[in-house]
Amino acid sequence: MILILNGPNLNLLGTRRSDLYGRETLASIVRMLKERFADTQFESFQSNSEGALIDRIHAAHYAGAQGVIFNPGAYTHTSVALRDAIEAITPPVVEVHLSNIYARESFRHHSLLAPVCVGQITGLGPEGYVLAASYLTRIPLHVTGEPDA
Ligand code: DQA
Repeated sequence: MILILNGPNLNLLGTRRSDLYGRETLASIVRMLKERFADTQFESFQSNSEGALIDRIHAAHYAGAQGVIFNPGAYTHTSVALRDAIEAITPPVVEVHLSNIYARESFRHHSLLAPVCVGQITGLGPEGYVLAASYLTRIPLHVTGEPDA
């Protein structure tokens, strides 16, 4: 199972700043992932609350998730508590941003979370979620040393 985790204001995708974030809704991004990775089980959770996101990160750990695709929204730039949660769990977390945070205001240039994530994908729109899923679904192959399909 891969957890698709989205933080504050991402429930507004489709209408919020479509110049930056595009016209796709969160539901359509999740649907696209499920279609493209039909063999993978996904769970999706969005919250505007830091604590609810932390609880879900812990739950992904206890559920033995394969990984977490995480767009933390503005908490990227502020949350020590989310950083500690990511650092505490075993499943790899990929940080994803629809917009290129490095091409925006300087307060978005710093991610408190990136150092405890396996990687960061930023600026590629919904395709970033696809690339993260592609990476996470391949990890077991690398770990077991089996050749790539
Ligand atoms: C975002 C970038 C953040 O800086 C911003 O606060 C968001 C969305 C993105 O997907 O580009 O809410 O995470």
